[in-house]
Parts: sequence; C-alpha cells; structure tokens
Amino acid sequence: FGTMEINNKGQLEIGGCNCLTLARNYGTPLYVVDEAEVRNQCKLYKSFFRSDSLRTEVIYASKAFLNIAMCKLVEEEGLSLDVVSGGELYTALKAKFPKNRIYFHGNNKSEAELVIAVKSGVGRIVLDNKSEFRLLQQVTKRLGKKANVLLRVNPGIVAHTHEYISTTRHSSKFGESIFAEDIYSFIKEIYESPDICFKGLHSHIGSQIFEEGSFLELASVMLDFIQAIRRKALVKTLELNLGGGFGVYYSDTDTPLDLPNFFERLLDEIYVKSKSLSLEPPKILIEPGRSIVANAGTTLYTVGGIKKTYDGKQFIFVDGSMADNIRPALYDSKHELSLANRMNDKCKEEFAVTGKCCESGDILSKGFKLPTPNIGDLVAVSSTGAYNYSMASNYNRLTKPAVIFAKEGEAKVVVKRETYEDLVKNDVHLVD
Ligand code: LLP
Repeated sequence: FGTMEINNKGQLEIGGCNCLTLARNYGTPLYVVDEAEVRNQCKLYKSFFRSDSLRTEVIYASKAFLNIAMCKLVEEEGLSLDVVSGGELYTALKAKFPKNRIYFHGNNKSEAELVIAVKSGVGRIVLDNKSEFRLLQQVTKRLGKKANVLLRVNPGIVAHTHEYISTTRHSSKFGESIFAEDIYSFIKEIYESPDICFKGLHSHIGSQIFEEGSFLELASVMLDFIQAIRRKALVKTLELNLGGGFGVYYSDTDTPLDLPNFFERLLDEIYVKSKSLSLEPPKILIEPGRSIVANAGTTLYTVGGIKKTYDGKQFIFVDGSMADNIRPALYDSKHELSLANRMNDKCKEEFAVTGKCCESGDILSKGFKLPTPNIGDLVAVSSTGAYNYSMASNYNRLTKPAVIFAKEGEAKVVVKRETYEDLVKNDVHLVD
C-alpha cells in the first residue's frame, strides 16, 4: 500500500521511514500512519466522486481515526468532517476546522452537545429521531439561533457485512424508518419548524461493504422516497447524504469496489433516475471513513515471547493487545502481518499473535504464516489505520500507543504515548 517499501536490508519502510528506527525512537506498540497515503485517498475521493451534472461533497467520517493533526489534514485536502459526539466535535473545533463543513451525527445527542453544535454553527446537524428533533427545537429557540438539519432515515436495506456494523435492517437503532406511517408528517413538521431548516436526508447502510448493488439500491430507494416526500408533504429535499461504508482490503478474502467506476455509475444512475422522476437532482454527499485511512495505518509491536502449547499451537506474544486493536476480537476481522525487520525471510509456520491482556480473546491474529520469530523482532500489523486508535482502550491499564505520521522520510508524533501518570490523572485519592 502507498509508500510502503522493503529496503535492501529486508526491513519495512513506511513513508520513507525505517520501521526499526521508528520503533527505536518512539517505542512500541506504535501506530504509524503513511501520511501521503491518507492524502492520496482524500484526493482520489474528491476526483472520483464528482459529476458534471450533480453537486457533490465528500465528508470524512472521523470516527475511523481522529486527532487534531488529522483534522488539519482533512481540512487541507478540502473534505468536510463528520463527527458523532461532543468529543469529536470538540476536537474539530480545537483544530479550528471550518464549522460550516462539520456534520454532527449521533443517535442520542445530549442537550449539552446540541448547544455546542448550535452555538458554534456547525454546517449540518443530522437528526436521528423525533425526541432529538424536539430537543433541538428547544435548544435553537432558547439560543435564538437557527440550525440546518438532515434527517437520518432507515430504508430497510440489508447490506452484507458483520451484524455489528450493519445499520439499515428494520430493527436497527439508527434513523427513522421510511416505512413509518407518520414519516411524512414528521418531515413536514421539521420543515415548518421556525428555527430548524430542513435540508435533506441521510442514510448509511453499514460498513465494510463490497457490493455495489447495496449502494445503488440505497440511492434508488432514497430518490423514490424524496419524490414521495415532495408529493405527500410538499417538501423539497435539497441534499442526499448516502453515508459511508466502502469496504477495504484487509486480507485476501476482501474485494474492494473499483471506486472510480462505481462512483461514475452511482452518480449517473442518480442523475438519470432523478430526471425520470422529474426531480431536481439533490446534492449528493458521501461519508467515507475506513477507506480514507485503513490501509495507511500499520501498528508495530515488539515480540516479547514465543510459546508452543501442549497441543502444538504456536503463539507470538507482542507488547500490544486488543486494547489497541479490538477488531479481531470484536468482529473476527483479519489483518495481514509481517516481521518488519525480516521482510525477506521465508514464512515458515503459522503463528497466532496475541497481546498482554488477561483474556483468551486477546487476539491480534488467530493464525498467520510468518518466519520463525525471535524475541525482539518487530511485528507489523497492516491496515490498522481505521477503528484501531479510535477504538483503543485502557483495558488492564495499558497505555495507548503514540501515533506517528510518516512522510518522505520524516516522522512526526501527532499523538503522544500515554504515560502511567495519564492513567491515574482522573483518579481521586480518597485516602492519603
Ligand atoms: N457515516 C455513518 C453515519 C457511520 O455510522 C459510519 C460508520 C460512517 C459514515 C463511515 O463508515 P466507513 O466508511 O468507515 O465504513 N468499528 C467498526 C466500524 C464501525 C462503523 C461505524 N459507522 C470496524 O472497526 O469495523
């Protein structure tokens, strides 16, 4: 991926930085992000997701990976930003991300979060449900400020992905169903609400999806729905946000979409169908997260031990854990692994890679072919740029690793490694 190379000593280099040097200078576990690869993905999205006939916008779903440096990068690349919590919003505001390019999501925004969003004037608040609408009405009225909103809806499309990351089954917790009897009167109510400006609809079918059919179906169903809203509620939908979810390569069973062709087809179909429904085509927005950052990230770990169990299973113990990458434990997801200091050595046997947590489920890989490891070797786990750092925890009071941006041979720390002091900084000493 991107600017990953093997140098003449058989060592892995990312963004022109030798992984051994990175590990020595910054310690392990270490999240290394290939900055050029992230920028490249942003640029590709902007170039693929365009049409001569439709207005379009690409919004980075920051839940995949967020910190102040990432906000800056996204801003420089001209993408908008999706945030889902007061914390993500705070990070964006701290980074001075342009407020009108912030989309505020979430299915249970608190009053305090809505106050910050309305006061700071974010571009769009994506309403999830009726109670949130009522709360926003109160907040806007009290503050005497207006808010632009999209309504998140559930079109009941089943996308084939892990149950935990599929979002538009009828039973999903997200959005209001487009089949609900009162959906049209609800939209009319939003539209007529004095301080709330209805701009359009949002729907996100799930994550790590490979079938273009699911997205095409979503677009088509949403356009029919937009037409029905127009007829039944006399409300014009100006914007249609189709969410994210474009699957990426983690291992050889993954078959990512051919994005340029796919987007060309998607935008064409939207235009043609809008015309056939006599609709003015809405502005089309998408929210990729994973596909911007996943492949740009690699996590480096040091091998601390090797063990063969009584029944012959071979373990490599590394200094990280499910606390810095919960994906294999949570979704049974797979990542490719290598020994960053011995990239040209022959892969001999299968090893399970596990970390430091007190759980048998602490798995980074259930089994991957690697050269016979030595203590001190550097394990590189690929495609950890999305939902690794952002889902990291302090389980077992492990400190979160540092995050490095590597580019053209230069490494910069964008998030410092946590210290033990950080771990206790909010603990209250009740006894001296
Ligand atoms: N928009 C909305 C409303 C979302 O909920 C999500 C992801 C996205 C956009 C971005 O989807 P992406 O392009 O990244 O697939 N932790 C899981 C993924 C959870 C996705 C949650 N929502 C994982 O590690 O696989």
